[in-house]
Amino acid sequence: MICIIEKKMMFIIINIHCVDLLSQGQHRTAQKERATMATHNSKGQKTAFVTGASSGIGKAAAIALTQAGYRVIGTSRKATSGEVRDGIRMVACDVTDDASVTEAVALAFAELGRIDLLVNNAGYALSGAAEESSVEQVRALFDTNFLGVVRVTNEVLPIMRAQGAGRILTTGSVLGLIPGPFGAYYAASKHAIEGYSESLDHEVRGFGIRVAVIEPWATKTAIEANSPQGDRPIAAYAKTLARYRMAFHAAMADGDTPEDVAATIVAAAQDRSPRLRYPSGKSAKQTSFARRFLPRAFFDRTLRKQFNIA
Ligand SMILES: NC(=O)c1ccc[n+]([C@@H]2O[C@H](COP(=O)([O-])OP(=O)(O)OC[C@H]3O[C@@H](n4cnc5c(N)ncnc54)[C@H](OP(=O)(O)O)[C@@H]3O)[C@@H](O)[C@H]2O)c1
Repeated sequence: MICIIEKKMMFIIINIHCVDLLSQGQHRTAQKERATMATHNSKGQKTAFVTGASSGIGKAAAIALTQAGYRVIGTSRKATSGEVRDGIRMVACDVTDDASVTEAVALAFAELGRIDLLVNNAGYALSGAAEESSVEQVRALFDTNFLGVVRVTNEVLPIMRAQGAGRILTTGSVLGLIPGPFGAYYAASKHAIEGYSESLDHEVRGFGIRVAVIEPWATKTAIEANSPQGDRPIAAYAKTLARYRMAFHAAMADGDTPEDVAATIVAAAQDRSPRLRYPSGKSAKQTSFARRFLPRAFFDRTLRKQFNIA
């Protein structure tokens, strides 16, 4: 008798579990459909907010998204009221300033009616030996490259949660996978983006929102010119640093175009099966693969050779 009751209970438990799995599956399908509607719907309904859209990757992404049918608002710290630049409606936003971010997102939401896609792109690099940067310089870098992303994302998330859909893409870097020499803090800021994005994606998926990182390789933009070097130079590093810089310039000259990365951003925005990481271009894909599968010692030697510091 006990055996029959046990069997019946098992049957009921299995059934409850199956119903649960089925409803979870249906829930997930509904979420996927909502997300797909938000990102792939008829023209007027797709909207995007792109930070750092005044030059380089952000500008190319804003243009490419417009061409793909999105209504886009881009940001620049220097944007003037009502400005349209290269066909892109620009609003002023400094991602290091809470009030500026709140105002820019509110303005974008008021104009667009919804925000289907956020592209967190504003950022800069910092080169030199780790020892050559003051804590203030590192703090400023993280304030833009990491906390800037947090500020904008936190401002956009309530909008996306209310919509029940949205996609957040952040411009990381291959250096978010490989901590190369003479870019310790930049690499650390991009590693922070990787960790943050992966955690966030778990948390917001249930609201129909997906989060991903775009991982460009060296890309021909104004990033070198716009990025500071260590603010307390140390002569002991000068020779190796000069050799590294030569190798870095060569990689940049041979790099991808901002339009290449913009194409990856559009593809990630429209991907029906979103992934967490989008390495952009052949070199980024190869490096991402090598990092995962090559023995560490071999990878270490190759990297030192590539940056001319072996
Ligand atoms: N170029 C590369 O090789 C490469 C490789 C991997 C990843 N990335 C990443 O790609 C992103 C774009 O860089 P890029 O190469 O296109 O450089 P870029 O041409 O120098 O553009 C940087 C953009 O960020 C904006 N920006 C900088 N600080 C800001 C702040 N505090 N608040 C708001 N906006 C700010 C700038 O806008 P305003 O100055 O007009 O405000 C500009 O639009 C960055 O996150 C960078 O780390 C670049």
